[in-house]
Amino acid sequence: MAPISFARGVPAPECLAVDDLAESARAALERDGHTILSYGPSPGYLPLREWIAARHGVDVSRVFITNGSLQGFVFLAQRLAAGKRVLVERPTYDRPLKILHELGADVVGLDCDEDGLDPDALEAALRGGEPPAFLYLIPTFQNPSGRTLSEERRRRIIELAREHDLLVFEDDPYGLVRYEGEALPSLLELSDGTAIYSSSFSKTIAPGLRVGWFVFPEALAREIEATATSTYITPVLLGQATVHEFVSRGLFEPNLERVVGLLRARRDAMLAALDRELPNVRTTRPEGGYFLWLESDDADAAELLPRAEAAGVTFVKGTDFGGEPETLRLAFSFVSPDEITEGVARLASVL
Ligand SMILES: Cc1ncc(COP(=O)(O)O)c(C=O)c1O
Repeated sequence: MAPISFARGVPAPECLAVDDLAESARAALERDGHTILSYGPSPGYLPLREWIAARHGVDVSRVFITNGSLQGFVFLAQRLAAGKRVLVERPTYDRPLKILHELGADVVGLDCDEDGLDPDALEAALRGGEPPAFLYLIPTFQNPSGRTLSEERRRRIIELAREHDLLVFEDDPYGLVRYEGEALPSLLELSDGTAIYSSSFSKTIAPGLRVGWFVFPEALAREIEATATSTYITPVLLGQATVHEFVSRGLFEPNLERVVGLLRARRDAMLAALDRELPNVRTTRPEGGYFLWLESDDADAAELLPRAEAAGVTFVKGTDFGGEPETLRLAFSFVSPDEITEGVARLASVL
């Protein structure tokens, strides 16, 4: 019995536009090879920075491209968070948690519900204790929960940030991977550009390209440039120029639409299978992204995991993200709709 993975938050292989990317890489090398094969500026390939800056309506000097957005998170955390108090959602993406803990940060998890981070929990945290280095949040199709922060809460959080001089860091790799519903204003927009924003081409084109970006306040962009230069001298310009060629050929939007169609079918298959097989467990019903969050009062995810693996299905337990013991994260992005149906049946047999 081949194991079925609901643990891997990676795109299904058919999401990756291999032929178009091969042509884009070749064209980029032929046109600009002497630039992109040499050392270059650490904030990234200028034509792509300009394209990103135009999409956000910000000055290009604030756009910083890194080898995947997680690399930018590391730079930022090294600069701002070592030994400091940092506020995060509970649960939240496990890798930043690990990076922050390794830097000796005092990580404070704030309560969330169906509408995302609870602003009252944020306010309480801001009223007591050290002023935090920043608030890290994933407001749209959150990893791990799939939840989206409501517009009302977005506005309230930005108000609180103004009142308390709090730096807000919005991580948004999934926002464009939307299956239904209307996009909400970003925290970057609502804060008049004072929030830090990060996103990535990992979910919209391909993660192996390692092209993520940040919109920083001007002064911070200069500081991060110093960190980036002393870390890798130059970023991977070939990946960035390939992305630039891909978007210049008008392939970004049609590719995104294709990817969204492939992943929507997977989200739908998972929700339908859960409704059928596990009608009594609570799950989030994400309008986009890669994940949903399952809560079952009578399950301990740590105890369940080895039994699920023996039955041929895997997931990540909620405690890895700072969540409660009876929660777990299911990724629907990687496996096929048929495998999802079978995987949920296997999960139901052990739950
Ligand atoms: C919330 C979140 N932020 C950042 C990343 C990292 O993405 P990248 O491939 O751009 O480093 C991921 C990847 O899964 C993610 O889920």
